[in-house]
Amino acid sequence: MRDEPLVLGIETSCDETGVGIVRGHTLLADALASSVDQHARFGGVVPEVASRAHLEALVPTMQRALDEAGVTLADVDAIAVTSGPGLAGALLVGVAAAKGYALAAEKPIYGVNHLAAHVAVDTLEHGPLPEPAVAMLVSGGHSSLLLVDDLTAGATPLGATIDDAAGEAFDKVARLLGLGFPGGPIIDRSARDGDPASIAFPRGLTAPKDLAAHRFDFSFSGLKTAVARWVESRERAGEPVPVADVSASFQEAVCDVLTAKAIDACRSHGVDTLVIGGGVAANSRLRVLAEERAARHGIAVRVPRPQLCTDNGAMVAALGAHLVAAGVAPSRLDLPADSAMGLTAVSVPG
Ligand code: KG4
Ligand code: ZN
Repeated sequence: MRDEPLVLGIETSCDETGVGIVRGHTLLADALASSVDQHARFGGVVPEVASRAHLEALVPTMQRALDEAGVTLADVDAIAVTSGPGLAGALLVGVAAAKGYALAAEKPIYGVNHLAAHVAVDTLEHGPLPEPAVAMLVSGGHSSLLLVDDLTAGATPLGATIDDAAGEAFDKVARLLGLGFPGGPIIDRSARDGDPASIAFPRGLTAPKDLAAHRFDFSFSGLKTAVARWVESRERAGEPVPVADVSASFQEAVCDVLTAKAIDACRSHGVDTLVIGGGVAANSRLRVLAEERAARHGIAVRVPRPQLCTDNGAMVAALGAHLVAAGVAPSRLDLPADSAMGLTAVSVPG
């Protein structure tokens, strides 16, 4: 439909420079440049390296997105950019670029929440999000369960991790197994050759005594330590570490807890749609287990395709288009890069 808003989205909160273009719920372009290889030898994202890489990649990525969509900047109705949360220096590059483009092309600008964008991206694949929905956001920096009554108005936090994020746990376990960075995709692959029932790793915050205060919260630090101890004891005994079995058993522990709590959240709030977003939503076992368990309770699971789960510009454009269509006022041109942006703000107010 031609009258749906044409929105360009810029994402630079971590190590991916993303520029996406959507028309309403239709994805027209999703250009991405990643600095992940530059961080691999450090075992984690180095903020200064990421900022510099964004600076170099932004203009070419922007051009690729416009070419891919077959539009010019003059054609777009609005520019959306991740305002936060994320790495301060990295965010600043995207926000400054978006302001420059908005000013030069005389377009409204929307500073948007990265986490809300991880939820909104699903609309590109599955259409408008039924509301209310429960959203589970699982990325390198966040693991949260949210109740979404109206995506333009923010979400009600139901629970979150009390220590490591789910993606962080994947990254740390991959590191201790010597598998490389980022760990999620590598463990996902390694787990395919392993037995998920071979090692009984702990399921954080699932014991009855923990559920009283932390029913919808997560904890992955004990699991990470348990994996480290198990691997150490093998090495001390001079026995080989069965990497695939450790990967599969660790992955099973994470996915078991995530899906059990997400479905409990849906059932206790009478919600029949679960949307999963963030880099860990790309995990093959999480997708299957969520489907299986949700189906038993008549809950529909919506997970975008893996490329849309990890950071990208299309998710920012999708949220921007949603805000434009809902008549939400644009942000002011002096909008900040807000590294600690909370989940209650979907966009920076005008
Ligand atoms: O959403 P994202 O791209 O960036 C953040 O906002 O953090 O998420 C990155 C995280 C990393 O920790 C990465 O290891 C994890 O998502 N990840 C995965 C998979 N693909 C990416 N975790 C498990 N399985 C995967 N297939
Ligand atoms: Zn993310």
